[in-house]
Amino acid sequence: MNGNQFGRMFQVTTYGESHGDAMGVTVSGCPAGLELEEADIQAELDRRKPGQSMITTSRGEPDAVEINSGVQDGYTTGTPIGMVIENKDARSGKYEPYVTAPRPSHGDFTYSAKFGTRNWGGGGRSSARETVNWVAAGAIAQKILTTYGVDVKAHVNQIGDIKAPPVTFEEMIENTEESEVRCAHPETAEMMREQIDEYQTEGDSIGGSIYFEARGVPAGLGAPRFDSLSSRLGKAMFSIPATTSVEYGLGHEAREWRGSDRNEDWEFDDDGNPIPEGNTHGGLQGGITTGQPIYGEATWHAPTSIPKEQQTVDWETGEKKDIQVVGRHDPVLPPRAVPVVEAILNITILDFMLLDGRINPDRLDDNPGQYETEYHPSSPQNN
Ligand SMILES: Cc1cc2nc3c(=O)[nH]c(=O)nc-3n(C[C@H](O)[C@H](O)[C@H](O)COP(=O)(O)O)c2cc1C
Repeated sequence: MNGNQFGRMFQVTTYGESHGDAMGVTVSGCPAGLELEEADIQAELDRRKPGQSMITTSRGEPDAVEINSGVQDGYTTGTPIGMVIENKDARSGKYEPYVTAPRPSHGDFTYSAKFGTRNWGGGGRSSARETVNWVAAGAIAQKILTTYGVDVKAHVNQIGDIKAPPVTFEEMIENTEESEVRCAHPETAEMMREQIDEYQTEGDSIGGSIYFEARGVPAGLGAPRFDSLSSRLGKAMFSIPATTSVEYGLGHEAREWRGSDRNEDWEFDDDGNPIPEGNTHGGLQGGITTGQPIYGEATWHAPTSIPKEQQTVDWETGEKKDIQVVGRHDPVLPPRAVPVVEAILNITILDFMLLDGRINPDRLDDNPGQYETEYHPSSPQNN
C-alpha cells in the first residue's frame, strides 16, 4: 500500500525507517530559480533534531542533509530535488523484545497486522523519525513562501494542565526558540519545564498542544469539499504521529458560541476589499482562505514509550508479559513537533499557491530573487 506522498503540485515523496540506513525525500514540483543550499535545509533540521535538551530523546543524530539532485550552481533547476539524511545512531537490538510483543499504543501491532511483517527497529516506518523528511521539504517551501509574504509560526501552548495565555505572532517569532519547551510565553515555559521534569522522574510522559498561525496567505485558496484548504491541511496535520486533534479558529469552543457572536460582519479593508470584521473562523470560510491569518491548535498525546511498567502479550508464545520501554524517547512531543507543524503548513500552503496559479510552477521569474538563466560550461551536467 502507498501513503508515502503528499501534495499535488509541490509533491513530497519520502522513504526511510527509524533504524534503517537513511531517511530520504524527493520534492517534485519546486519551481526553478530558487537559491538553495544545504545550509537552508540544515537550519530547520537542527530545530527538529533529537538530543537538543533533557526533554528530548538522547538519540544522537546529526541529521546532516545531503542534496543530491535538482540543484545546480546554487539554484533549483525545476527537476526533482533529492535529499538524504543518514541515520547515524540507530540501535535496533533494544527493540528485539517487542518484535512479537507490541509496545502498548505504538504502531508495532497495527503495522504487523496490516503487512504481516514490519521493520521493528525503533518503530521502523511508524516512527516520527520520518518527520525529518517533511522538515527538509518544508524548509524549501518556506523559502519560497517568505518571498511571497507568507509567514508561518507555531509554539507550544499547553503541556498537561499548564496552559499559556494567548501570545502575538511577534512574540512567537521572538520567544519560541528561546525555551527548550518552545512556548512563546516565558513564565509558562518555566512551569511547563517543571511539569515535564516531574513526569520524567516518575518514568512517565505527558501530552500537550501547539498553536499555529500562517500570515499573508491570499484570499481564495482552496477548492470545494474534499480539497478545501481546511481538509487538506487537516489531513497533513493528522499525518504527524501521535496527533489526536486539529482545530481551526474557535475549534472545539465553537460548540458553546451563538451564531450571532461567532458571525463576523463584513467590512472593507484599506484597499476596498471585503474582509470579515474578526477572525473567529481561523482564516477559513467554506474551506477557502479569507486572506486573514489561518490559525488553530493541534494536540499530541503523551509518548507511549515509557519506563513505567505496562502489560503486553507475545503473539508467538501466547504469554502475557510485563514491559518497560527504557531508553531514548521523548518525554513530551509538542516541543519537537513545532518545526514539523511549521513544515506541514508551509508545504500545504505552497501546494495551494502553485495549484491556484499564484506562483509560476516552472520558474520563479517574477520573484525578487530572480534567476537569470545562465549556461555553465564548467558544470559536469553540461559537458
Ligand atoms: C516529533 C515526534 C517525536 C516522537 N518521539 C517519540 C518517542 O521518542 N517515543 C515514542 O514512543 N513516540 C514518539 N512519538 C510518537 C510516535 O511516533 C507515535 O505515537 C507512534 O508512531 C504511533 O502513532 P499514533 O500515536 O499516531 O497512533 C513522536 C512523535 C513526534 C511527532
